[in-house]
Amino acid sequence: MSDQACIISNSQVQRHVTPMDVIEIVEQTWKWYGEGQIIMPAKVTTDMEPAGIPGWFNSMPSYIAPLHVAGIKLVGGYAENPRHGKPYIKANLMLTDPRTGDLRAVMCGDWISDYRTGAQAAVAAKHLAAKTDVLTIIGAGNQGFYCLDCMRRILDIKEVRVCDISAAARERFVARFADAPFRLVSCETNEAGCRGSDMIITITTANTALVKDPWVKPGALVMTMGSFTETSADLVLNADKLMLDHVGQGLHRGNLKEMVDKGLVTEKSISAVLTDVVCGKAAGREHSDQRIVIELVGMGCLDLAVAATAYERILASGEPVVTVDMLNG
Ligand SMILES: NC(=O)c1ccc[n+]([C@@H]2O[C@H](COP(=O)([O-])OP(=O)(O)OC[C@H]3O[C@@H](n4cnc5c(N)ncnc54)[C@H](O)[C@@H]3O)[C@@H](O)[C@H]2O)c1
Repeated sequence: MSDQACIISNSQVQRHVTPMDVIEIVEQTWKWYGEGQIIMPAKVTTDMEPAGIPGWFNSMPSYIAPLHVAGIKLVGGYAENPRHGKPYIKANLMLTDPRTGDLRAVMCGDWISDYRTGAQAAVAAKHLAAKTDVLTIIGAGNQGFYCLDCMRRILDIKEVRVCDISAAARERFVARFADAPFRLVSCETNEAGCRGSDMIITITTANTALVKDPWVKPGALVMTMGSFTETSADLVLNADKLMLDHVGQGLHRGNLKEMVDKGLVTEKSISAVLTDVVCGKAAGREHSDQRIVIELVGMGCLDLAVAATAYERILASGEPVVTVDMLNG
C-alpha cells in the first residue's frame, strides 16, 4: 500500500492556472456554496500576539462536493514580514481525499490567496455595481493590487483613485499600472477619493473609519475587505443593502465586528448573502440608486477550489512533481 502526496510550489501553480481562471473559479465556487454543495465552517483565528509573536493565522477548512476535495487553508498576517521584504500575508494549503483522509498535496497558497482575494472584488462588483466607471481603492498594498488586477480584466473601468496613508505606497501602486487603459489618480485624502465614486474598496491593515457616510453617493457599491474596522458605523447603518459573503464569519470579523459587538448590527440587518445572489436564490441590486455595502472577509473554499484545479492540471500535464509516499517514503 502506498499513499502518494505532492508538494506543489507557487510557480508551479502559476504555470497551470491564470488570473482569469481564478475569477471564473471564484464565481463558480460562490454559486456552489449558495446551492449547498460546499461545507465550510467559519474560520478560526490563532492570535500569537500574547506570546510575543506579532502575527495571527486563520485555519480555514472546507469540503467541495463537485471537486471531490476536502482541505484547509492556513493563512496569516505577519507584521514583521514587510521589514524583511516579504508580503504581510502568507498562505499554505493542504488537499485531502474526502473519503479516506489521505493527503493529496501540500501547496504554497500565496498566489492563489492573492488572486482569489482580488477575484472576489471583481466578481462581487460584476454582480452588484450599478456603474463601474470610477473605482476607489483605499489601501495601495498587496491585496489592493490584486483587486485592481482582477477588476480590470472583467469590468470597464475609466478612472481609478488610489488612497493610502503612505504616499510612497500610492506611488508604487500607480507605477505598477503605468500601461493601464484607465486614468489613475493618487488622492491626498480618502474624502477626495470617495466623493462621486461608483465603487469603493477598503483593503488596508487599518482599524479606523476610512470611509464616511456623506462621501458615498447614491448607487455606489462599497466593498470592505480588510481584517478590521474600515468605515463609519452610519455608512453601514444607512446602507440600502448590507451584504456579506458568509454570515458565520462576517458578523465576527472585519468591518462589521465592532458594530455587532455593540449590538448595532445583527444577522437581521443583512439583506442578502452574496453566495445566494450569485446562485440566483436572493436579489442583489434592485435599482441603480441603492447604496450597497458588502463585507468580503474571504472564504477558504475559494482557495481550495483553485488549488484543486491546479493540482488536477499539474498531474494531467505530466510535469514532474515532487511526491512523497506518506506511509513508506
Ligand atoms: N478579505 C480577504 O479575503 C482578505 C484576504 C487577504 C488579506 N486580507 C486583508 O487585507 C488587508 C491588507 O492586506 P495586504 O496584504 O494588502 O497588506 P499590505 O501591508 O500589503 O497593504 C496594506 C496597505 O494599507 C495601508 N494602510 C494602513 N493603514 C491605513 C490607513 N489608516 N489609511 C489608508 N491606508 C492605510 C498601508 O499603508 C498599506 O499600503 C489586511 O487587513 C489583510 O488581513 C483580506
